[in-house]
Amino acid sequence: MPQRKSSIFSSNPEENSHSFQSFLALSNQESTILGCIKEHIFPLIDEGICEILNTRTSNGSPFRVLSVGSGEGQNDINILKALIDNNRRVDGEAIAVMNRVIEPHLGRLDRFCSKAENLYEHFEGRATIDFEWIPTTFQEYTSQKKAHDVTFDLIHFTHSIYYVGVEEALVHCYEKELGKAGVILSIAQAEDDPMLKFARKFPEQRSPSFPRNKDVVSVAIKRGWKYFACPGDSNSLDITTIFDSSSRGGNFLLDFLTNRVQLRQNEGMETVRKILKFWKQQSYVNEDGRRIVDIRDHAVIILKGFDH
Ligand SMILES: C[S@@+](CC[C@H](N)C(=O)[O-])C[C@H]1O[C@@H](n2cnc3c(N)ncnc32)[C@H](O)[C@@H]1O
Repeated sequence: MPQRKSSIFSSNPEENSHSFQSFLALSNQESTILGCIKEHIFPLIDEGICEILNTRTSNGSPFRVLSVGSGEGQNDINILKALIDNNRRVDGEAIAVMNRVIEPHLGRLDRFCSKAENLYEHFEGRATIDFEWIPTTFQEYTSQKKAHDVTFDLIHFTHSIYYVGVEEALVHCYEKELGKAGVILSIAQAEDDPMLKFARKFPEQRSPSFPRNKDVVSVAIKRGWKYFACPGDSNSLDITTIFDSSSRGGNFLLDFLTNRVQLRQNEGMETVRKILKFWKQQSYVNEDGRRIVDIRDHAVIILKGFDH
């Protein structure tokens, strides 16, 4: 039996990065999340957001966004684009935005910084964005929060609620990070997502009890906060290469799907066979002969201080 050397994925940030990159390259998750934000989420909160933007502009203060666990920032950038591109300019003035970004992985934060430089061109004078980069965990950040610090209008956890302790994080955000009015957004795996099905079937690989959006909803109900749960959208993940043991990208993706490091080296053949069988059953073959799995995201929006 091969030794289970390094099976806890979260304690191997470099392998985790390669695997996550492989997942992003083979899925259309980022564009699906952008679609969900534009088509479902912003229409629900548009009026409230406009009101906050107007107040901010007339006070001469920026609209403030707090991103938690930004990764390399593509989803954060898409959220800014959805916010600004939707013609919300007050009297033609440029929108001023401040985005504080909390991300403990320095390499990811660096890559986000490089992408952020190109945003000035994208917005062509329609918006000015100041980023504040916070290279630490959310837990560390909250422990150092000063009483007189700024508050935020929009806080988002895009596939990062898993790592922060749902109730403490949300209560902290609602009470200490949001101002009088604002929005918390959590995008996370849906309950019928195949990765969650995998966790239920192979709990020794990936615990099925990781925090999810249903926990976000429970906290909102318990605290009496106004919230909306949006079913989210499906995006396609091409898993063809996981069945090819010689594919480097395929092995990284297999690690991502199973939450393990070097699954093929560290698990017995029989376990690997069962895992591959599971993923084959979850997938279908598209017209190009590629094996595709539908991944499902789900969104919860918590509102403070305004009606939608
Ligand atoms: C699954 S990735 C999602 C990245 C990005 N938001 C996206 O949607 O592509 C989760 C991110 O959360 C970060 N993370 C992990 N633990 C964290 C913590 N305790 N506080 C803040 N971020 C954390 C990871 O470094 C990683 O970049």
